[in-house]
Amino acid sequence: MTDAVRFHAQHRAEAETSLFEEVMTGLSRQPKALSPKFFYDRRGSELFEQICQQPEYYPTRTEEQILTHSADEITRLAGPESLLLELGSGASRKIRLLLDALNPSGYLGVDISRDFLLDSTRRLAADYPWLEVHAVWADFSRRMEMPEGIGGRRTVAFFPGSSIGNFEPPEAETFLAGLRQMLPADSGLLIGVDLIKDKAVLEAAYNDAAGFTAEFNLNLLRRLQVELGAELELENFRHLAFYNDAAERIEMHLVSQCQQRIVVGDRAFDFAPGERLHTENSCKYSIEGFQALARRAGYTPKAVWTDPQNRFSVHYLSTP
Ligand code: AVJ
Repeated sequence: MTDAVRFHAQHRAEAETSLFEEVMTGLSRQPKALSPKFFYDRRGSELFEQICQQPEYYPTRTEEQILTHSADEITRLAGPESLLLELGSGASRKIRLLLDALNPSGYLGVDISRDFLLDSTRRLAADYPWLEVHAVWADFSRRMEMPEGIGGRRTVAFFPGSSIGNFEPPEAETFLAGLRQMLPADSGLLIGVDLIKDKAVLEAAYNDAAGFTAEFNLNLLRRLQVELGAELELENFRHLAFYNDAAERIEMHLVSQCQQRIVVGDRAFDFAPGERLHTENSCKYSIEGFQALARRAGYTPKAVWTDPQNRFSVHYLSTP
């Protein structure tokens, strides 16, 4: 069988060294911190899929509902024969919804998790035989380029799930401005953005009763054990997630349960009891706040849709 997916590796070498390097600098920092992009090895990507199905985690199903209801309008805004570029490939149900509505001439999935990317794009290629499918293995939080021979086509970028929330607002603006540079003229960005809301609803979404979010958070330390040979006890860390009102974001941390020392490579890192390793920010926006940010990044807000409870928003932005 021939492989229908065209594979492009963009940050291969960097992706392999960056975990080690970023762990060394992140654990040396005060307070200790690591980038949430490292959650997504295969196991982490699978745990995230589980999170998305938990009753408390409203973003995924709410965004799906919004996309279902707005599919016709999205199609009208995006126009025919575009190239669909998905940042963080693997949100398979959502992309299928869009493929069915948009009928794009090509699909480009970008993801940092190589195996997960290949699985999801291969499934897509099998189910959409008419579609030209490309898999780009890249860390899109860095500068990214359109693979050779693909650029130039009018593009609709799809950045679902409120992944933009992992950036703090100034970085989100820089990221969106950079993405705009990559998009040909007359392109669009369809982006999901989680909204500021009742604290109890937000905190429940990041503390699901089944414990998948806790597992997902702790999986980061498991990666250090498995991939970097780190010496540490997983049982000595606890998941913590809370809403920071002033910063308008959910924060996730791993909290040291005792005085302990973990060893990575030739370095030792001490944790005091209660000391935190900051693993994620998930920033929340108002509709107006996000539109203002998008304008500063060089986009024009064209449409925005929400659910009846105003929990989540999907924006269509055009370039310029
Ligand atoms: C993929 C970044 C959108 O912030 O809600 C889910 C990741 N972390 N539960 C989010 C996540 C914990 C998710 N994003």
